[in-house]
Amino acid sequence: MNGPSTPQSGAGPAPVTGRDDGRDAAAGTTVHAPLLEVEGLHVRFPIFGGLIPRRKAEVHAVDGVSFALGQGETVGLVGESGCGKTTVGRAVVNILRAMNYRVDIDGRILYHHAAGVVDLARLGRREMRQYRSDLQMVFQDPYASLNPRMTIARIIEEPMRVHGVRSAAERRDRVRWLLEKVNLRAEHAGRYPHEFSGGQRQRVGIARALATNPKIVIADEPVSALDVSIQAQVVNLLQDLQEEFGLSYVFISHDLSVVRHIADRILVMYLGSIVESGPSEEVYRRPLHPYSRVLLSAVPRPDPSVRLPRHDAVSDDIPSPLNKPSGCAFRTRCPIARPDCATVTPPLEWRDGRFVACPYSE
Ligand SMILES: Nc1ncnc2c1ncn2[C@@H]1O[C@H](COP(=O)(O)OP(=O)(O)O)[C@@H](O)[C@H]1O
Ligand code: SF4
Ligand SMILES: [Mg+2]
Repeated sequence: MNGPSTPQSGAGPAPVTGRDDGRDAAAGTTVHAPLLEVEGLHVRFPIFGGLIPRRKAEVHAVDGVSFALGQGETVGLVGESGCGKTTVGRAVVNILRAMNYRVDIDGRILYHHAAGVVDLARLGRREMRQYRSDLQMVFQDPYASLNPRMTIARIIEEPMRVHGVRSAAERRDRVRWLLEKVNLRAEHAGRYPHEFSGGQRQRVGIARALATNPKIVIADEPVSALDVSIQAQVVNLLQDLQEEFGLSYVFISHDLSVVRHIADRILVMYLGSIVESGPSEEVYRRPLHPYSRVLLSAVPRPDPSVRLPRHDAVSDDIPSPLNKPSGCAFRTRCPIARPDCATVTPPLEWRDGRFVACPYSE
């Protein structure tokens, strides 16, 4: 956790053909060996309408996102609702096509596993099967994501059935072991989700995600539905499990204060693109992109030394990804926008220890 970060040097266990070996244009990866590299990810959902349904438009939910995730590392993905965080997570675990077969996906999702590197984005359902157990998701709403008619033992053992743990006794033992790992009582395995509190249900969701012994966990707003008093417990549990099992996390949240504590690096997303990325403390203490500043000004800051310069009030009106502004997508809300922000799309550039997509931020 919180290890030092360096820009991507191209060092890694296996050479990947066709990739730019310089600095990663998005994230600046860590000294950890890369486990996952997302390169130039685009996701578009077509919108159909009319009496004879035809493609009317498309939602460009993810617009060229790149980042790397190191072994044992946590990358925090932050941004307002609708900016594409969940879609990035679903693309990584390769479930977008199963949810919407008309989705267009471009880019590469390189998973470095023991035997080599595979581009998950190119795999169909069947070929994906052998990697699926390595990549799991934890969801925001622990109640909606747990079948109310199943006991928690059944819920946690389900992924083991799917992934071929045939012996019922083995599954039962592992369920009890997992329950203890997430600080629930093994003798409660026969209870139903409604018999647990919100925090306990999220522990069940985490146990289910760990059932297949994954390498990468995409935690999609895992504490957003919980009381603030419970959030820290669940975050601490995730950190303990990470340490014990060497897990790598993509931790998604709209709340920077939550991400700051768990993430080594933060990626700030706006309307489908990363606008700033760098080591958590750097981004948190001295955000450069005007949008990161807006996000951060919403976070209560107990430490006055990191008080942010005041920006003029910024409108809450987020443009639709159906109708993204030209040039810099943030320009309709940016307090320092200039005329050429409407025509030039600012690239992510390396500055002051992080990548930032705004040439005018100081
Ligand atoms: N299956 C889908 N079909 C059509 N549009 C979708 C689908 N999933 C997400 N979107 C759209 O993609 C954009 C990004 O959504 P999402 O990834 O859920 O954002 P976030 O998780 O940051 O709130 C939103 O405009 C959303 O409406
Ligand atoms: S490029 Fe222009 S509109 Fe975009 S964040 Fe920078 S100043 Fe604001
Ligand atoms: Mg989401």
